[in-house]
Amino acid sequence: MHILAFVNQKGGCGKTTTAVNLAGALAARGERVLLVDLDPQAHATMALGCAVEREPTMIEVLADELPLERVLRAAPGGVTLAPATARLGEYEEIAMRTLRPQERLSKALDSVRAQFDYCVLDCPPRTEGVLALSALRAADTAVLVIETGAFALQGALKARTLLAETAAHLDRPFSLRAVATLFDKRSRIARELLVGIHAQFGELLFDTAISTSVRLREAAALGVPVQALDTRSRAAIDFRALAEEVAQHAHTLEALSATTPQPRS
Ligand SMILES: Nc1ncnc2c1ncn2[C@@H]1O[C@H](COP(=O)(O)OP(=O)(O)O)[C@@H](O)[C@H]1O
Ligand SMILES: [Mg+2]
Repeated sequence: MHILAFVNQKGGCGKTTTAVNLAGALAARGERVLLVDLDPQAHATMALGCAVEREPTMIEVLADELPLERVLRAAPGGVTLAPATARLGEYEEIAMRTLRPQERLSKALDSVRAQFDYCVLDCPPRTEGVLALSALRAADTAVLVIETGAFALQGALKARTLLAETAAHLDRPFSLRAVATLFDKRSRIARELLVGIHAQFGELLFDTAISTSVRLREAAALGVPVQALDTRSRAAIDFRALAEEVAQHAHTLEALSATTPQPRS
């Protein structure tokens, strides 16, 4: 199971949209995909149309009250969802009286490792909190989501520095990738920004940039990944291409770690 965490300290840059629709595109390729909502805003849960009433969610898993298996739900587009509610915010407080709280997510994910090919973690905008730290501790790959808009490059460079600092404190390495999103190819400024992002991130940047698409907003409103709404749309094509690149990246890392074993708790 390859674990990807979608990160950026900035809100509204497309983390949730990218996480949900990449999960949908991987599932459409026949992969077994788990999407874990790690944001107390629960946008990924809502974007998959899952209304949580009294069912258990990620807070019960992180609080060590339930195994992860018990909160999994079948979501649209063939994705399995581990949902969240606002209660997930309570984990910050629980973490203060817990030994190595950032390891709980990794342990929970270990318990379902054989059931999934990919796990996608949708992270909160707060990068200094225990939820984001847990995601990075668990991740094989952290994907920095970069909005192709004004000041995005500065924000992305700051995010890369923060990620490098966090990585230095973790006992388990993650590989870094970046994806550009909210790209409007008709805008000259956006095209220039994309060139600038590529100049800074080089090979770390996936070749696929996710275009701005009204279909993605519609899909979120309807509670489905865009693949399930309109498989021929620009957005569905973008996410298919990204899924292909992500799969190649995961296979390359897997082949590498088969030759150099990584420590796992
Ligand atoms: N590629 C895109 N095209 C159009 N709208 C998008 C795209 N990506 C994100 N959005 C919209 O932008 C807003 C913020 O995106 P979201 O994925 O929730 O960001 P984050 O999770 O980083 O806060 C949402 O309303 C979402 O529907
Ligand atoms: Mg979000």
